[in-house]
Amino acid sequence: MRKKTVRDIDVSEKRVLMRVDFNVPLGEDGSILDDRRIRAALPTIEYLLGKGAKLILVSHLGRPKGVDPTLRMDNVARRLSELLGKPVVKTDSCVGPQVKEKIDNMKPGEVIMLENIRFCEGETKNDPEFARQLAELADVYVNDAFGTAHRAHASTEGVTKYLPAVAGFLMEKELEFLGKVISEPDKPFVVILGGAKVSDKIGLIENLMDKADTILIGGGMLFTFLKAKGLEIGKSLLDAEHIDYAKGVLEKAGDKIVLAEDVVVADRIALDASYKIVSTDNIPPDWIGVDIGPRSVETFARYLKNARTIFWNGPMGIYEIEIFAEGTKGVAEAVAESPALSIAGGGDIAAALEELSYAEKISHISTGGGASLEFIEGRELPGVTALQDKEFDEQ
Ligand code: 3PG
Repeated sequence: MRKKTVRDIDVSEKRVLMRVDFNVPLGEDGSILDDRRIRAALPTIEYLLGKGAKLILVSHLGRPKGVDPTLRMDNVARRLSELLGKPVVKTDSCVGPQVKEKIDNMKPGEVIMLENIRFCEGETKNDPEFARQLAELADVYVNDAFGTAHRAHASTEGVTKYLPAVAGFLMEKELEFLGKVISEPDKPFVVILGGAKVSDKIGLIENLMDKADTILIGGGMLFTFLKAKGLEIGKSLLDAEHIDYAKGVLEKAGDKIVLAEDVVVADRIALDASYKIVSTDNIPPDWIGVDIGPRSVETFARYLKNARTIFWNGPMGIYEIEIFAEGTKGVAEAVAESPALSIAGGGDIAAALEELSYAEKISHISTGGGASLEFIEGRELPGVTALQDKEFDEQ
């Protein structure tokens, strides 16, 4: 990796400000529904603590406008403390004299978690004065928040103007795996695209069309492509503004694009809906496409079996409803069985794979939603660009 990492700096007895993405889904009672993002940062946290750092963690949670008591970091700090098996002190604000005092009293190997950084308006504005105040809390800055690297905020970008800034292990791993997708993927390189709207995937399609050998299309976006081919899609999801775009993609990509050939259609989107499997050229009016069918899974599986690299974005159907999860499960099974390096990222594919118990069988599931999409689209991530370059610093 071109960026400096925690391995390249001395952190012993130093105050280390580490940006993490602990923006975890919360239940109505504020409990953490999925702690994957917290667990993903543990290798860096444990490494830094093992090297005798005084660790100051900072994250956002949700999109609060000012202080929002339901989005305090207390539950997150508690969960982290359970995972680490050591106390994590939570501060009531992000900067200021009280926070400073707590940090001044820290011993090497101790951990502090700052309050939700988005409670302070300087954060999303990337206010230089606020970034400077944050930087004053520490001697070194580590960014392990890949999921937030597409934001140029004070705690992801601004702060790097005042402190030596390096990447953590999660950031390094994400950049390595996702980097493989956009530069020199081992061939055959197969992309699986699903999810709801074509409009959300334009950047992905554009950047992957030339690199991929095959692009398998399922999920809600399939129906816009079927419509573009002049097929009846009943009441299935349609991104009407992008029919022409889909037409253009089909023309340009030729047989690189493989559309699902059969689908599950239902009379309604509900657990007790009536449903049946039909060919994509035989979708009845009034029915809604909710999943890909078994023939499509078989065809997709044939491509996946021979692949050397797989990138998967977006589920194949409405997997949240058990009867419409078969397509996503079947494709997950095929990805799991393939010898290819498999990488999933962006949107809700991570949640789908976790829920269907396939997460362990994929080589890498990105912790980034928007960040991994932007990265695969070939866009620059400000939180990464701002980190110190290895080559540059070693000269
Ligand atoms: C995410 O969940 O994608 C990241 O934590 C970024 O959150 P944001 O979209 O609110 O900036």
